[in-house]
Amino acid sequence: MSVSYKDLGIVNTREMFKKAMEGQYAIPAYNFNNLEQLQAIVLGCVESESPFILQVSSGARKYANQTLLRYLAQGARELIQSMDSNVNFALHLDHGDTFELCKSCVDSGFSSVMIDGSHHPMDKNIELTAQVVEFAHEHDVSVEGELGVLAGIEDDVVAAKSVYTQPEDVENFVKSTGVDSLAISIGTSHGAYKFKPAQCTRDDKGVLVPPPLRFDILEEIEQRIPGFPIVLHGASSVIPKYVEMINSHGGKLDDAVGIPEEQLRKAARSAVCKVNIDSDGRLAVTAAVRRVLTEKPGEFDPRKYLGPARDELKSLIIHKNKEVLGSAGRATEIFGEARAAEVTA
Ligand code: G3H
Ligand code: 13P
Ligand code: ZN
Repeated sequence: MSVSYKDLGIVNTREMFKKAMEGQYAIPAYNFNNLEQLQAIVLGCVESESPFILQVSSGARKYANQTLLRYLAQGARELIQSMDSNVNFALHLDHGDTFELCKSCVDSGFSSVMIDGSHHPMDKNIELTAQVVEFAHEHDVSVEGELGVLAGIEDDVVAAKSVYTQPEDVENFVKSTGVDSLAISIGTSHGAYKFKPAQCTRDDKGVLVPPPLRFDILEEIEQRIPGFPIVLHGASSVIPKYVEMINSHGGKLDDAVGIPEEQLRKAARSAVCKVNIDSDGRLAVTAAVRRVLTEKPGEFDPRKYLGPARDELKSLIIHKNKEVLGSAGRATEIFGEARAAEVTA
């Protein structure tokens, strides 16, 4: 049986992005897989009064179970209401790779989907994205497309210019597909190892300093599609505090490096309306779990290590919303259909 996100009381991303563009901030999109991550995201965003996007990859959907996930999102909505908060959120499919997966998410209550055709040739990317847009828009679900390929650690980001989004492609892609937002590649990548040490310099303490993002490409894209919402994937900072906590409690993350916060602040003030964060959340959780289990080797109650992990993640989320993305305090700007109906009732 299919369910509409409108019955779950959540919103699509359209109004969020409009407000984020006007207010020069970005909506955080936090990936989650389990209960503690969901609680931390919801409580962190309620406390900082930030609109947010709950983001689910296809791997997370398999891990958490698609039916359970729908009820988790519904539960998140009810939890927010029970706290007398007016924070709105979208439920978003991250990196959907087929029409069938996007359709299944629309049918099970997602309010937004990404169709990532960036690995296909342009014609195929346009065709697939347009097919998803046509179906999703019939249900008032927003769609994110992608142009340009995010490099992994295997790729040489500096030399392989073709991985960056080509600004001359964006107008045609946006017009031909009808997408609501566009993910671009300007030098970020997924995971905790965004750059090879050889691509970085070192500061006077020997800490790796990554090459700057390609803001010149972002600016050219903004000029070609003014006011169009841009999405930044691979935008974790790989926060050194968590890498150190992990390494000093039995972990081994050598030369992990991410996107410095000041560059994300700059991006959030631009047409970048959505910033994707998964790895920093994973690092916060892992650091807290490792610390508890190292300091209390006899502990075997999962609540005693997942609880502190949840607290650490909640603090991280409040920090990101307040100090990096500028989304804190913006909750009242997103009215949403559910609240509009409540107010007129
Ligand atoms: O973009 C990738 C996200 O970090 C999701 O990762 O596929 O391991 O859930 P995942
Ligand atoms: P990070 O790995 O930098 O957190 O990026 C997450 C992401 O882009 C999810 O789509
Ligand atoms: Zn991504």
